[in-house]
Amino acid sequence: MKHRPKKKEATVSRFQRPFLSDVQELRDRARQHMDRGAVTQGYRADRETVIRILNQALATEIVCVLRYKRHYFMAAGIHAQAVAQEFLEHANEEQGHADQIAERITQLSGEPDFSPDGLASRSHSEYVEGTSLVDMIREDLVAERVAIESYSEIIRFLGNDDPTSRRLMEGILAVEEQHADDLKRLLETLSV
Ligand SMILES: [Fe+2]
Ligand SMILES: [Fe+2]
Repeated sequence: MKHRPKKKEATVSRFQRPFLSDVQELRDRARQHMDRGAVTQGYRADRETVIRILNQALATEIVCVLRYKRHYFMAAGIHAQAVAQEFLEHANEEQGHADQIAERITQLSGEPDFSPDGLASRSHSEYVEGTSLVDMIREDLVAERVAIESYSEIIRFLGNDDPTSRRLMEGILAVEEQHADDLKRLLETLSV
């Protein structure tokens, strides 16, 4: 008589496994540590580390807002209206990212760090003023590329341990990639 292949047994037992924890256990657990709000016992990431990393991303966004604002006003002064508008649009989007990240930090029962002390060193990207229009665009492109690299790392780190923070950072990453592409196109237009 033939043996039933082992592989099939494994498949059957996989489907027999309950999808979630016992419902009563879930209900009981939800009533414990209510002060933690959205952070339940099922939260798998290291909360302190995630908050620290998100605060670095917050600092990165704030530095980007400041740099784009500086570039917006300087470009407006040299009558480069189209470029200035692009800088302003990016500044506003970076501000939106900062707000989203700060909100997520509070959901994790952390405190968003808006302190100007140490802001530049918490940030991954740099604040570079730039002397000419092309310089400004180039510096913004460098900063976007830094953000793209560091946010990609954050996303890989979060993995399945904190899917909400991961999705947030994925959404922001997609916008940073658009920003980098906008800047690359601007540079190409200006160097013709
Ligand atoms: Fe951003
Ligand atoms: Fe950006």
